[in-house]
Formats: sequence, structure tokens, C-alpha cells
Amino acid sequence: MEIVTYFDKVFSLFISKDEINEILNKLALEVNKTYQDVNEDVILVSILDGSFIFMADLVRKLDFEFDIEFVKIRSYEGMESTGDFELLLNLQIEIEGKHILIIEDIVDTGLTIEKFIDKVKEMNPASVKVCSLLSKPEVHNDIINIDFVGREIPPAFVIGYGLDIDGKARNLDGIYQLEI
Ligand code: IMP
Repeated sequence: MEIVTYFDKVFSLFISKDEINEILNKLALEVNKTYQDVNEDVILVSILDGSFIFMADLVRKLDFEFDIEFVKIRSYEGMESTGDFELLLNLQIEIEGKHILIIEDIVDTGLTIEKFIDKVKEMNPASVKVCSLLSKPEVHNDIINIDFVGREIPPAFVIGYGLDIDGKARNLDGIYQLEI
């Protein structure tokens, strides 16, 4: 499918399924290299809902020992970042002294991840790193350091591969960009 329509808005294919797989392979190489010699506990923390597909695909390419956790944050409505930060599901485990790798679908304004990193740091982990499939550097102006970035994209709204528009389109196996 080259074109999809949701809520009368037209989106065109931007990153294909095969390209996503290449991005995942590149990210997995980097993440594996970084954590292969870490002998303490590593926890991958996926930010729901958007990163559930990315998380599921990425973990199957990783070859070191780790636990997984999920947190749920609401910060986006429709096609706008609200700037509000609501932690709907918090970490359920003790993370003190552990290495945390946050798995995010996309960093737009960076506000969500920035606030979540602050929360995680209050719990005294051994380290905190961020892995994001997509990043919009022109929007967040590098206010936060993303340790592993799959692909930098322009500031347009995207859907698919876990990313939604008002809860829909998460099931698309490619990533689609809003046509203007
Ligand atoms: P931020 O706080 O502005 O960085 O936004 C973070 C969250 O907003 C992401 O985890 C996504 O869930 C959502 N988001 C940001 N940009 C997009 C987009 O282009 N499409 C769909 N969701 C997005």
C-alpha cells in the first residue's frame, strides 16, 4: 500500500517494512555492542503504547541478558504533543543499581522522554540510555541525548508500525507520512 487514509487525512508510504528491518538491524548491532560486556542487570523499558511493535521486533535481535518492563505515558492527542505528562502505568520493579535502556517509538518535542528520564534517575539506576526508532531533531533541537536513533525524520506527522492517529493505524507494517 502506497497511500492510506485515516480521518480524511492522506498518508503516503515513507519507510517500508524492509527499510524498518534494516534500521532494526543497525540499532541491534549498536545496542548489542554497548551492553555485551555489562555484567550487571539490564532492563529494557518500553514506553506504551507506541513502542510495542518496535520493542517486540528489537528484543528478538538482541543477544545479551535483560529483563523487560513496560510503562504507559499519555502526552499526545490527535496530531499534537500536549506537553502534559501523565504516567498511567509506572515501573513495577526496583531499578536501583540497574542499567536502564528506554525504548521509545519517536522523539518529537522530547518532553515525554525528558520527564520520564528525570523520574527514572530519581530511582538511582546504574545508567540510563535511550533508544528511539525515530527522531525529529528539528522539533526537539537535541534538548535530550538519544543514545541510539533508528532514523532522523523531518517534522511531519507519521503513523504505522505502532504509531497512531487517535488510536488507529498502529497495525500498518510500514511508516506513513501525512501528505500536505
Ligand atoms: P514528544 O513528547 O513530543 O517527544 O512526543 C512523544 C510521543 O508522542 C511519542 O512517544 C508518540 O507516542 C507521540 N508522537 C510524537 N510524534 C508522533 C507522530 O508523528 N506520530 C504519532 N505519534 C507521535
